Amino acid sequence: MREMTTADGSITFFNEQYDEPYHSLTGAVEEAFGKYAIPCRASEYAKSGKVRILDVCFGLGYNSAAALDMIWEENPDCFVEVTALENDEAILRKVLEVNPRIDSYCIIKNSVAGIMDKYSYSEPRLLLKIIIGDAREEIKKLDWKFDLIFHDPFSPKKCPELWTEEFFRDERRLISDQGILATFSCARMVRDNLARSGFIVKDGPSIGRKAPSTLASPNFLNQEKIS
Ligand SMILES: C[S@@+](CC[C@H](N)C(=O)[O-])C[C@H]1O[C@@H](n2cnc3c(N)ncnc32)[C@H](O)[C@@H]1O
Repeated sequence: MREMTTADGSITFFNEQYDEPYHSLTGAVEEAFGKYAIPCRASEYAKSGKVRILDVCFGLGYNSAAALDMIWEENPDCFVEVTALENDEAILRKVLEVNPRIDSYCIIKNSVAGIMDKYSYSEPRLLLKIIIGDAREEIKKLDWKFDLIFHDPFSPKKCPELWTEEFFRDERRLISDQGILATFSCARMVRDNLARSGFIVKDGPSIGRKAPSTLASPNFLNQEKIS
């Protein structure tokens, strides 16, 4: 696994098996905030006092860490539950080597270091659980609802198994009525599979490139008031 520096100065790695980096080279931390935490409206959810996040393909955990920053900036007392799916312990070990400019990243490090329990970390305002295994199998074992889903596998070309209608149906089953799913891809096949799974789909922000990212929700209409 080769280390790379992205354009915003944050570190990512290159995965030889998938022949792809873990993040956009235009900025790994910029992507975590710009394509995930901000468009998912993590700060809005924080106002309700509790936010539940499903982080699909946790990797270095930048997306969850960015969301924690936004949530606690808005409401320092907000309780956050993060459930993360990841099948490769090698990338989790890399968490201990990087220091992105995300205030909450120390919590991700603590969790991965197994300070409390292996890959499970709790403190009064956070429960973070990293489930190691194939996301396609592990997601079927979950049976509670999430407000935010970060869908961040390798690209549809390189990792098509995590962009199928079946996988999105599992995410649709788990998302709350007003929840938001964010993903970097705007591929037609991805959006069609999301729509077939019962999501309403719209453009997310274009960060670092012309093409937009994608946001999906069972119901965007009710999202002005989250409480
Ligand atoms: C683009 S990277 C995710 C980057 C991550 N969200 C972050 O903030 O660092 C994709 C991740 O998906 C994981 N992955 C690939 N196939 C998987 C599978 N079937 N189940 C679970 N994780 C998988 C890889 O190990 C890799 O960490």
